Amino acid sequence: MLKGKKIVLGVTGGIAAYKAVDLTSRLKKAGADVCVVMTEHAQEFVRPLTFKEISGHKVATSMWAGNAEFSVEHIALAKWADLYLVAPATANIIAKMAHGIADDLLSTTLLAMKGPVILCPAMNTDMLENQATVANLTALRHRGVTVMPPAEGMLACDTVGGGRLPEPRDIVSFVDCFLGENGGDLAGLKIMVTAGETQEPVDPVRFIGNRSSGKMGYAIAKAAASRGADVLLIAGSVNLHDPFGVKIIKTVTTEEMLDACLKNYDKMDVVIKAAAVADYRPAKATPQKIKKGDEALSLSLVKTPDILAELGAKKKDQILIGFAAETENLIENAKKKIGKKNLDMIVANDITAEGAGFNADTNVVRFIFPDGKVLPLEKMDKADVAERLLDIMIADLRAYRKK
Ligand code: PMT
Repeated sequence: MLKGKKIVLGVTGGIAAYKAVDLTSRLKKAGADVCVVMTEHAQEFVRPLTFKEISGHKVATSMWAGNAEFSVEHIALAKWADLYLVAPATANIIAKMAHGIADDLLSTTLLAMKGPVILCPAMNTDMLENQATVANLTALRHRGVTVMPPAEGMLACDTVGGGRLPEPRDIVSFVDCFLGENGGDLAGLKIMVTAGETQEPVDPVRFIGNRSSGKMGYAIAKAAASRGADVLLIAGSVNLHDPFGVKIIKTVTTEEMLDACLKNYDKMDVVIKAAAVADYRPAKATPQKIKKGDEALSLSLVKTPDILAELGAKKKDQILIGFAAETENLIENAKKKIGKKNLDMIVANDITAEGAGFNADTNVVRFIFPDGKVLPLEKMDKADVAERLLDIMIADLRAYRKK
């Protein structure tokens, strides 16, 4: 995602400084090279040694400490960085930046930085809403500084409101959207992704569902957003964190998912249906809990609508990509679905294979095209499957459509 990107992470003195440790680790895992700069106050919360061990670089803490890696450190660091990320950014550093004050290493490197800067403000709600802070942030935005909106919730000062540092995974997604290696190649495209299971109620406590976790669909939505697409995620029942920068409609039943898909279909350029949709539902959900009675209980089931087939029938210019979860005759069964549902491509997964299908973090898939071509991929993280799927979509399917 951030492979080869050089990021200076400025850590200032707020309680959320501890989250910057996780953030450093996540940025590294995403492929970035991270150099940390800390203020004196930040060092009261977390020791530089922790960041040194995780980032693999000496932590810059003082104008006078010297650094063998970067001579004239404040200038060299600013020149080295593709991005300067300040997280957490206190009201103090925001005020200093707004007024060009450079009285320590962090503020001096920021003043020397010609490249992009992202601030992640984190502070008490009243401080955030104070007119001075509001004016400082506005001034910085006008100068081209990007401000990631703070999250809301319980703050360290025991109040509830805005001013929380967003979760490190969301900051990484934000940075990725801003700086991702794919550089926004999906910008301008509207993409709808479905994910997770649908649930069909039997009674108020029971339902017919399946083992889909939503990980595959969420990975696609997240990857598409980080490559600049305008993404609408239609989610079934999942227990996953909402991906940053993605609009979400939450649904439970197949009917609800169908309704959400149809309402938004006409606006879309691409639809990717990774959701595992129930094929049948109870003919009638009982309003009261079904009591234990005879040895056997029969449920009468009726077919649910096939959402993908309906979208295929209504298709105009959209690129329509389905998934096929198979336990036997993978390619043959998947190929039949391409024709039946009028698809541009199907992603077939043999869900009996090790590391493939439901709930795994990895998947083993084959991309199958209407002309019968099959492109097999090795086992990889769902995030990587998502990137490969989007690569194929943008390179082949879109180019083909333009002919
Ligand atoms: O969510 P995870 O735990 O990460 O697991 C990922 C996954 C295994 C769910 C995913 O990779 C996958 O294979 N999704 C499709 C599952 C499925 O329902 O396959 P199917 O072969 O039954 O359906 C074929 C296609 O028709 C799918 O795109 C499905 O969304 C769609 N469909 C099916 C039935 C129906 N009533 N309406 C539909 O739209």
